[in-house]
Amino acid sequence: MELSLVLVVAVSLLAVSPTEAATGHLPKSYPLCKKSDPNLNTCLKNAVQAVVPQLVDGIPNLGVLSIDPLEVSSIDISQGTGPVAVALKFRNVKVYGLSKGIVRDSKADLKNFMLEFGGFAPYVRLEADYEMDGKILVLPVTGKGRCNITFDDMETRLGPKGKSTKKNGDSYFDVTDFKLDIFSLGKLSFNFENLFNGDKTLGESMNKIMNENWKDMWAELRPSFEKTFSAVFREYAHRLFSKVPMKDIFLD
Ligand SMILES: *[C@@H]1O[C@H](CO)[C@@H](O)[C@H](O)[C@H]1NC(C)=O
Repeated sequence: MELSLVLVVAVSLLAVSPTEAATGHLPKSYPLCKKSDPNLNTCLKNAVQAVVPQLVDGIPNLGVLSIDPLEVSSIDISQGTGPVAVALKFRNVKVYGLSKGIVRDSKADLKNFMLEFGGFAPYVRLEADYEMDGKILVLPVTGKGRCNITFDDMETRLGPKGKSTKKNGDSYFDVTDFKLDIFSLGKLSFNFENLFNGDKTLGESMNKIMNENWKDMWAELRPSFEKTFSAVFREYAHRLFSKVPMKDIFLD
């Protein structure tokens, strides 16, 4: 029998910062590569690795916000069936730890505007206001309050993809897709405060059950999280690359 999983994800990034500019330059401290470099992949890997910690500051002159914490105004996940069947709403989401990411490798196909990076993050913590209603591992659960979700040792593949667009005679990388594959995770931990209307005993045991069964939880939640954060990263990359022409991203 086929199980039909209803999975709805909606995401929205926080408002753009007020200093948003139409176009601009990357900070001078960002290393750049030559498209014609025979070792382009190594150059890109090192360049992106140098940029990631600097994105803590965002890029104020381009209206690009910080990635650590990365702020997302809302994430809605709703799974219809299966062991984790919940409506989960997160508001005022802050994601900590992305600036500590390691770039493992890079694969560029610039003709087709496709990039791919292997990334590792030792520790990522999501903090948010949450609201939850449904069933987790067959147990009914409701709650509303603060929560933390922590990801340890996350291995990912990240792939921004798009096409070329022209603006005022310059060509830009129009990011239309962002592949995100979180293919390995060391551990996932949950702390939902105020489950079951603040019933401490029930709340603690539910958190314990989720943490002891984190692998099952992750198997269920992984598609939603990948979909959610690929949308967040697509939007982030789109904002950045729509403001910096290709001629200012590459040296040739
Ligand atoms: C989330 O983690 C932070 C940092 O460890 C802590 O200050 C906060 O109390 C935690 N909140 C919840 C709801 O677990």
